[in-house]
Amino acid sequence: MGIVNIDNISDVVIASLGQHGNITDRQREIMSSLIRHLHGFCKDVNLQHGEFLEGCEYLKRAGQTCDENRQEFILLGDILGVEVLVDMLSNPVDGPESESTVLGPFYRENPPVLPKGASTIKKHYDNEETAYFEGYIRDANGNGVAGVQMDVWEDAPNGVYENLDPDQPEYNLRGRFETDENGHYAFVAVRPVPYPIPDNETAGELLRYMGHHPNRPGHMHFIISKDGFRPLISQIYDSESKWLDDDSVFAVKESLIGTFKKAAPELETDLHFEFDFVIKSEAIAAE
Ligand code: BEZ
Ligand code: FE
Repeated sequence: MGIVNIDNISDVVIASLGQHGNITDRQREIMSSLIRHLHGFCKDVNLQHGEFLEGCEYLKRAGQTCDENRQEFILLGDILGVEVLVDMLSNPVDGPESESTVLGPFYRENPPVLPKGASTIKKHYDNEETAYFEGYIRDANGNGVAGVQMDVWEDAPNGVYENLDPDQPEYNLRGRFETDENGHYAFVAVRPVPYPIPDNETAGELLRYMGHHPNRPGHMHFIISKDGFRPLISQIYDSESKWLDDDSVFAVKESLIGTFKKAAPELETDLHFEFDFVIKSEAIAAE
């Protein structure tokens, strides 16, 4: 502890950590780095007191925006590229396994359980393109994994997720599927279209402050899970979609891009999208 000046302020605050209560090594590591980076940021931009107060008011408004359906701070983290960075730190790819990416705020627990090959479509749109999605889910040795649970969800052809749109049936374009004995999955859905993330309230303020747009490229979300394997939270992207290399939440990874092809007549859909995944066993992940 000590008397502060502009040169020693960071050291003084860091030295105060744990002086009046026990803290863990991890708490010390996190707080020391946070204090150094936060102080460094204030010095870098020569932050003025009025700007500090503006920032505090902004965070107050962000907190007031949160409710059951909206977690504003995750959205702000997405716009700043923090969620995708934390996801890459939490799920490093060091083998053949598929890459993860952000979950996003629109997942719903317990989607309808559907048989292999069934459709998630509960409402039709004039501009829809139906698609047959299929592929294999394999382990790191290339063997198909049977009985893998796969939750899928996407926006409708009007660019809105079912739970935000009173004009769509419950659980439209959502489903839970399982791989067969060969690790093969299949379902019918629509080609996902680009859509804007919520850009009102403080998320919109941040986008405008950054001179950015709210749009995401067309994507299908997945959560792939099976006991003994690391859950895979990911998305696959349409190689022809607008915003693919300018995603408002920076979640697109090269390995997650696939291509819609014209479907063969027997599939009875407009398009066909084939995509395989590799999941990592808990034992390999723990090595
Ligand atoms: C999404 O893909 O659903 C999403 C991801 C991050 C922020 C908002 C939406
Ligand atoms: Fe999404």
